[in-house]
Amino acid sequence: MAAAARLRRRLLLEVPWRWRCSPRRDGAACPSAGQIRAAFLRFFEERHGHRRLPSAPVRPRGDPRLLFVNAGMNQFKPIFLGTVHPRSELAQYRRVVNSQKCVRAGGKHNDLEDVGRDTYHHTFFEMLGNWSFGDYFKEEACSMAWELLTEVYEIPRDRLYVTYFGGDPSLGLSADEECRDVWLHLGVPASHVLPFPLKDNFWEMGDTGPCGPCTEIHYDHVGGGRNAAALVNQGSPDVVEIWNLVFMQYSREVEGNLLPLPQHHVDTGMGLERLVTVLQNKRSSYDTDLFTPILDAIHKVCRAPRYQGLVGNADVGRVNMAYRVVADHVRTLCVCITDGIYPGFSGAELVLRRILRRAVRFCSEVLQAPPGLLASLVPTVVEVLGDAYPELTRNANQIKDILNENEAAFLSSLERGRRIIERTVQQMEPSTNFPAEVAWSLYGSLGFPLDLIDLMLEEKGISLDSAAFNKLALEDAKRKAGGPQAGQTGTANTRLDVHSLAWLQGSSVPTTDDSPKYTYTLGLHGQYEFSPCQATVLMLYKDQSLHKEVGAGQRCGVILDRTNFYAEQGGQDSDQGYMIRLGQQDVLFPVESVHLCGGYVIHEVTAVETLRAGDQVQLFVDEAQRLACMRNHTATHLLSFALRRVLGDSTEQRGSHVTAQQLRFDFDTKGHVTVEQLQQVEQVVRDLIQKNEVVHMAEVPLTLARRVQGLRAVDEEYPDPVRIVSLGVPVENVLTCDSKAAMQTSVELCCGTNESRRKVNPF
Ligand code: SER
Repeated sequence: MAAAARLRRRLLLEVPWRWRCSPRRDGAACPSAGQIRAAFLRFFEERHGHRRLPSAPVRPRGDPRLLFVNAGMNQFKPIFLGTVHPRSELAQYRRVVNSQKCVRAGGKHNDLEDVGRDTYHHTFFEMLGNWSFGDYFKEEACSMAWELLTEVYEIPRDRLYVTYFGGDPSLGLSADEECRDVWLHLGVPASHVLPFPLKDNFWEMGDTGPCGPCTEIHYDHVGGGRNAAALVNQGSPDVVEIWNLVFMQYSREVEGNLLPLPQHHVDTGMGLERLVTVLQNKRSSYDTDLFTPILDAIHKVCRAPRYQGLVGNADVGRVNMAYRVVADHVRTLCVCITDGIYPGFSGAELVLRRILRRAVRFCSEVLQAPPGLLASLVPTVVEVLGDAYPELTRNANQIKDILNENEAAFLSSLERGRRIIERTVQQMEPSTNFPAEVAWSLYGSLGFPLDLIDLMLEEKGISLDSAAFNKLALEDAKRKAGGPQAGQTGTANTRLDVHSLAWLQGSSVPTTDDSPKYTYTLGLHGQYEFSPCQATVLMLYKDQSLHKEVGAGQRCGVILDRTNFYAEQGGQDSDQGYMIRLGQQDVLFPVESVHLCGGYVIHEVTAVETLRAGDQVQLFVDEAQRLACMRNHTATHLLSFALRRVLGDSTEQRGSHVTAQQLRFDFDTKGHVTVEQLQQVEQVVRDLIQKNEVVHMAEVPLTLARRVQGLRAVDEEYPDPVRIVSLGVPVENVLTCDSKAAMQTSVELCCGTNESRRKVNPF
């Protein structure tokens, strides 16, 4: 392996810019992907004076609307926008070349659901690009591209077609005849130079900002002297775009009009995977050496037959699809984790979590691979991509650890999800759709990617009630967008109404003992251990009335005598998780949210089977979600303390919202807060985390708690006795009358869940 890598490196170093390769010459060895990438970079660097830059990380810098870097130009946006500081390094660039790591798996360019179904979609790909910032323009850009493709890569000219912008009268834009003339001048026959409208050949970065006509180069995989002009831009897998050259010459204004830019730029992008497919004379990128080593490595570990490139009905048991999914996703996972995007709960992290879960499911269910397959592929991914992106080599061990941890967590959820689907299907009436509520629970509570649910159902010949599912998704989105306003959380049909509450109280149904929510411990290796809690169903609630029984497939509120679930209160999101019936371990009832009403904790549950009052259940909270909330909750304490320290004692907390993904902190203070002050606040918080202090908690009588000097409390009702949470100082030390400890550290009244008796540092 090491010798092969050395040889490869030597070859790469020795490739002259004028290295040629002939994909069509019989018997000629195909160039490797590494050689093709290297030839591109060296051609622009050595032959045409471009500066070679490394790929930017796939986590976008300074662009919160973008989940992942999805084009080579992302890192140069400030140059196009003209916002770059004239003395910055960026401002010095004139000609640049690079190979950019790109991920398209969320937001505008989302290929995730397609990956695996066909032989050409990817979530991660490499974009080869050259740029001119106020330097060369159309003539040189086209001429360099043509020279590279036809003379260096030796792609037969008659297989190439070029497109140009055909004009748009509504915008007052005429056809880009200048571009057409450049191509004709370069010797491209007129029958291969084709005009296309705005939607195909006018590239815009966003609703406003730099934009301009583009010219694309397309390749005909079939060839043989035919004229394939009619197939260009028609979605044919035989005639594919390989390179896009954008001429940035306008600025789209807010009013929608176009103004000429003072400087003209060139932004080009060519997908390496497509180029390699062409140059290695293949029809699918999965058959190139960017993927074959990974597919071979998968085969060595799993029990499935070898990859054969089959799709659709020919791909019996979806084995080939699974190979493609796993090979694609493991590349994306390695690149993202290396660049600091870890599987998580929101934004790019959530997308990555779904990618990981999709890959794990195909590994275990279709390929019958033992746990650990994904991590075992990391060395192969490093072998394929490590020369171009050395950061992958450096982070290989960390990537493996993260993959293994997340895989283990999902495998247990997968088993539960499968059982839920089996049960639900057994109980469904023939020819009905799978209930949206159950699918939503799988999606929300167990983190099942939607397309996996679809696939699992498809295998059983059942469809999901998509309209109802979308409605639930919309309601959830509205609820989240609305924030933590009183009365908005939980769904209306499980929120106790005044009559039901009065009936419960009048019938002496005891309120819920929720003290078990704090019964978690710290394991020997610093990990939290949350024990399950046993309880009895007292009453069920649905559609504004109390019930003794709720049928399968319905969503209801479950009232128990006790619970370990944290109910949404004080701005902290509720726990999620599931419950099982004692003696019936294989039926899981997902708990989506939990709220508190008059002392009753209402668990919002999808009844996978009929649920009855008197049922004995065992409750399991989603530990990852709880821990994430705990971390963010403790962070609000640190922030509260830091704000007072920097902005003074007049600073008062007015509210907060803590979720697994983020925290929001509302406060009042005198005057404006400066950027410097915010930086100081951040520093105080960082220092506190660095100190790695223990978080102490204790329950004390409210009157005693209120006497503590400096103790922080929000203007709300607290129970008696109340919990005090203090950082670094045991609670008993802050209770003594003359103690000033609460002035020096964070001490607060608190009803939420914090990291307890452990170091603060796991952020
Ligand atoms: N920005 C253009 C694209 O993404 C060219 O690189 O297609």
